[in-house]
Amino acid sequence: MVKVAPSILSADFVNLERDIRRLDPDGADYVHVDVMDGNFVPNITIGIPVTAAIKGISPLPLDVHLMIERPLRYVEDFCRAGADILTLHVESDLPANTLAALEKIRALGVRAGLSVKPNTRAEAVLPFLELCDLILVMTVEPGFGGQRFMTDMMPKLKTIRGWIDEKNPGCELEVDGGINEKTGRICVENGANVLVAGSAWFKNPDPAAFARALKG
Ligand code: DX5
Ligand code: ZN
Repeated sequence: MVKVAPSILSADFVNLERDIRRLDPDGADYVHVDVMDGNFVPNITIGIPVTAAIKGISPLPLDVHLMIERPLRYVEDFCRAGADILTLHVESDLPANTLAALEKIRALGVRAGLSVKPNTRAEAVLPFLELCDLILVMTVEPGFGGQRFMTDMMPKLKTIRGWIDEKNPGCELEVDGGINEKTGRICVENGANVLVAGSAWFKNPDPAAFARALKG
């Protein structure tokens, strides 16, 4: 089954509660929360208190995407704030710290995710695959919503799907960046089962129809 995770980066922040409460009736599966620190990516967005506030009103599980340097320092805070899935970037720290962060997330009863930027090879996730509940393949350079989908990420997505089927079939495979009806379908064909959509969701006059289309 294909799942849809609207990225609230493109929601109306003045009416964030309203926008989040609509996600479940419109057919979304997760609320995708983009956390940026101005270091790992050149943008600053949502932090721990806002994540906790969202948790308090969200009818759906929180899929928290950390785009921060050395995330091990903060994984406990985000787990306690209510992340249901907590994803960090393989590029954001040394392998030993990435390992420790994934283990800590799982020890706190939260699902652990690992993400790869466009210029990172698929092989980077391999040493961690058995420790992951989700792999996130970025289909844009992380940092901003509304960018153009990178079709050339599809071979990487397909490769990782093969490894997941072989080594950790329960692991989800998510894509993030430039997802619309057409690019979402391409990602599903290449093995994705969770589609993040920011601008295409929140700018859509009929998100329920968009969700149905994405799920095929
Ligand atoms: C980008 C974020 C994405 C972003 C997606 O760094 O991780 O989640 O909000 O936005 P769209 O769907 O507009 O590309
Ligand atoms: Zn994201």
